[in-house]
Amino acid sequence: MTQRYAEFHRRSIEDRDGFWREQAMLIDWEKPFDRVLDYSRPPFARWFVGGLTNLCHNAVDRHLALRGDQKALIWISTEVDKTESFTYRQLHEQVNRVAAMMLSLGVKRGDRVIIYMPNMPEAVFAILACARLGAIHSVVFGGFAAASLAARIDDARPTLLVTADGGSRMGKVIAYKPLVDEAIRLSKYPPAKVLIFRRGFDLQMANVAQRDVDWADLARQYERAEVPCAWLESSEPSYILYTSGTTGKPKGVQRDTGGHAVAMAASMKYIYCGAAGETIFTTSDIGWAVGHSYIIYAPLIAGLTSILYEGVPIRPDAGVWWKIVQEYKVNVMFSAPTAIRVLKKHDPAFLQKYDLSSLRHLFLAGEPLDESTHAWISEGLGKPVIDHYWQTETGWPVLTALPGVEKTPIKYGSPSFPAYGYDLKLLREADASEADADEKAVVVIEPPLPPGCMTTIWGDDERFVKTYFSTFTKKLVYSTFDWGIRDREGYYFILGRTDDVINVAGHRLGTREIEEAVQSHANIAEVAVVGVADALKGQIPVAFAVVKDNAKIATAAQKSAHEKEVMAAVDAQLGAIGRPARVHFVSLLPKTRSGKLLRRSIQALAEGRDPGDLTTLEDPGALEQIRAALKGR
Ligand code: PRX
Repeated sequence: MTQRYAEFHRRSIEDRDGFWREQAMLIDWEKPFDRVLDYSRPPFARWFVGGLTNLCHNAVDRHLALRGDQKALIWISTEVDKTESFTYRQLHEQVNRVAAMMLSLGVKRGDRVIIYMPNMPEAVFAILACARLGAIHSVVFGGFAAASLAARIDDARPTLLVTADGGSRMGKVIAYKPLVDEAIRLSKYPPAKVLIFRRGFDLQMANVAQRDVDWADLARQYERAEVPCAWLESSEPSYILYTSGTTGKPKGVQRDTGGHAVAMAASMKYIYCGAAGETIFTTSDIGWAVGHSYIIYAPLIAGLTSILYEGVPIRPDAGVWWKIVQEYKVNVMFSAPTAIRVLKKHDPAFLQKYDLSSLRHLFLAGEPLDESTHAWISEGLGKPVIDHYWQTETGWPVLTALPGVEKTPIKYGSPSFPAYGYDLKLLREADASEADADEKAVVVIEPPLPPGCMTTIWGDDERFVKTYFSTFTKKLVYSTFDWGIRDREGYYFILGRTDDVINVAGHRLGTREIEEAVQSHANIAEVAVVGVADALKGQIPVAFAVVKDNAKIATAAQKSAHEKEVMAAVDAQLGAIGRPARVHFVSLLPKTRSGKLLRRSIQALAEGRDPGDLTTLEDPGALEQIRAALKGR
């Protein structure tokens, strides 16, 4: 670790108020804040108390004078072969219009709006329109099935749901509207209105009278509408983003307004090194935290041009992203390790085919980046590739290199050092004492969490404290639920989750959620789902299920048909992203004598490792069955 970085980090912790007061100057305040931090009710932190601001003003309006004609958003879809771009002025017009449309549909400040759309410009307009009105958006990833969407509807109780007729993946159209109809049918607290953008897919759509509103029809009535920004107190919620945890019930990560805006602006400066007028390309989906922060909020708040991409990394060929970098002179790029592992299977000549001279850094996050992939992409591009680590909960990087502060050497496989504002510790699981160098321990953050991190779980302060701050009885610390290690030079390495969360191709899933989806099949009595290491996707879910009626799996052909049925049940309940790669049938699951499932032992066996301490195992026959199932017997 080096001097400049260390000093910067030290100041952010020791002179917290001074440090963040300075960063707060990166955004516009309608009314200045009275206090930098109110931490009178730990672990709840309120940043920039009394300050009034608005995310849409900071992301759009304030740029009009200086960069009204600069492109704000470039949408590139290799799915529908279209490109559209919007200057800051055009973005301003679009957002105002959508805000007026939302007002006409009864959306008020503090109301929730669910956005269930693929990567398309209208999704960005809807998100920013919510911010403009002070309505709380909750974007639900388009890959989630009806039951998952229904659970989110019931938790957020939205006034409005915004959707599209469909999305497209690998050229295949996926209808969204029937899924929305089904989710609303399943929900207890359905939205009064559904706003639908028709992309022109040839899809039959049933219209629900009084409820369904056509985007284009309504937009016509609000051509030149102007809607003022609502000035929100810094701590008022800006959005909810659901993420998986150990229980089957997703958690609504709640973000504030002022802290979030400041965190976004500061991260653009010190971490991503993106300056106003430059171009960023983040390959994520707007339904994930990376999309929220680094397709939309941070780039726009900092006055960049942001590329919104709808498509996969290998269509029309594995050079498509690098072609975009050349064509749009991309300066900063952000992607996920899985995408790079996919590209690694294709001709490396694609990395050299285009002029990448504009590109300064490639950032990767969302899952562990193995050393060989890190080396392959760094050497192939001849650019610094920065692995950085964070979570939906934090909204911006926790461990990262800070090229905007100092260009520290990169170590393959390591997300470098704690970012400013994070008082990071590695604590021993047994007694909450601090681990030594090279000793595996739990990665925790000493509260208060810095600006931009989650402020609570939507509607459930108690669950927030219980979930994140109760790992250790001796110390009030935020647990990341990740194992980590720090080497003698101060570089960190992340070694996987401490809980039952798995990471499939960068998608975070709870094994409990998948188990519940498997159990939605009528013939499943009991099931254990574990994440198994996979060279391409990082991890894949594998299920071990006990059936109620064995007659249905008497023959090999029946077993195989049954496995497919169970997979289809998961697709319908949770979405294809949660589909187990295999469903093995057993008559018994390994449990402790107190009835706890031994998931870690099952996972070890599935990965060909030693199952560990089995003294608490109730019936050794159960593990034998897992072994046999894995061998295909
Ligand atoms: O386990 C860590 C892993 O992904 C989790 C967070 O996932 P999500 O909430 O979807 O947030 C993604 C935002 C980038 C973490 O708890 N993870 C994320 N980044 C890394 C990582 N694991 C290893 N290395 C990383 N760089």
